[in-house]
Amino acid sequence: MAKDIILGLESSCDETAAALVADGRQVLSSVIASQIDIHKKYGGVVPELAARAHIENIIPVVRESLDKAGVPPHQLAAVAAAYSPGLVPALLIGLTCAKTLAWAWDKPFIGVNHVHSHLQSVMLDEPAENFPAVALVVSGGHTSLYHCQSPLELTLLGRTLDDAAGEAFDKVAMILRLPYPGGPSIEKLAQNGSPHAVDFPRSMLEKGSLNFSFSGIKTAVLYHCHGKNMTGPDRVPSMSDAEKADIAASFQAAVIDVLTQKTIWAAQQVHAKTVLLGGGVAANSLLRNQLASRCHQMGLKLCIAAKKYCTDNAAMIAGLAYYKLKAGLTDDLSLEIQPINHDPRFDTKR
Ligand code: KG4
Ligand code: ZN
Repeated sequence: MAKDIILGLESSCDETAAALVADGRQVLSSVIASQIDIHKKYGGVVPELAARAHIENIIPVVRESLDKAGVPPHQLAAVAAAYSPGLVPALLIGLTCAKTLAWAWDKPFIGVNHVHSHLQSVMLDEPAENFPAVALVVSGGHTSLYHCQSPLELTLLGRTLDDAAGEAFDKVAMILRLPYPGGPSIEKLAQNGSPHAVDFPRSMLEKGSLNFSFSGIKTAVLYHCHGKNMTGPDRVPSMSDAEKADIAASFQAAVIDVLTQKTIWAAQQVHAKTVLLGGGVAANSLLRNQLASRCHQMGLKLCIAAKKYCTDNAAMIAGLAYYKLKAGLTDDLSLEIQPINHDPRFDTKR
């Protein structure tokens, strides 16, 4: 039987990506133009620079994704793009490009929620679906727990009330003067440090709460560094490499403890048998290993996105679009970007 091949586009933040995915799970091509080199000197994403780079990269990544998959446009079942949440000028580029291509090629158009699609990344290149489940989406913009009945039926169980976990990694990396993006830098440095060196707070760990808060731990790291003679935001803390490694390892351990514990509680609360993990921070080895060992203890099945699909990519957009297509949920070309997630099922941060 012919497969439904969807072209997905992603441009919500600092990656310009295009991918072709068959029947929601078989990745035929996944092309990502990263902007890390553009933003690293600012320590974070600059929206206007991101938009300029998206404009330059979007057509080349679409071409490359079609070429790599060897699929001509007339064989596509639909064209999809992330429309929410994200940076305004960045979202506009991918969405406008997808709508234009859908119109020019006379294909259905599908707008996809970026956060929701991070969960779909767990299914990419996998033979089976894993629903119902509890899912943790943890990235630079989001930290949310969902009860998922199917790819399209999500109930929000908890979310961050302030910073996302990835944002905390990025900000702590800035304090320690580590390269952007902070998550991988902290993970690398933490390998040389002790997770028990500093007792950073494990916030909102009172039994039962499935919400998160990561702004306190970021401040705790800053105060700890002040104690080490860092007297202003632009001063490099006068610390040895060993001290920095201890801070990185202790910070990482505190964040991962909270993420792991709350995910297990969520699974217990809704009697889930399966746990899904996706989003940029899901690339973190300590999180992957710690959650795997807790799930094993509790008799839960754990499905984690492959590392290449944890951070932003377009395969997850095309993957989720397939289920929307099958459910008849295509969109009109008048669909607009929605930079803030107003859907109560999702977190409202970005
Ligand atoms: O999913 P993503 O690419 O973008 C958003 O939707 O936000 O996630 C990027 C975030 C950044 O905050 C980055 O520091 C974090 O994921 N990240 C990590 C690791 N790799 C990326 N955090 C911890 N450990 C990692 N290995
Ligand atoms: Zn993302």
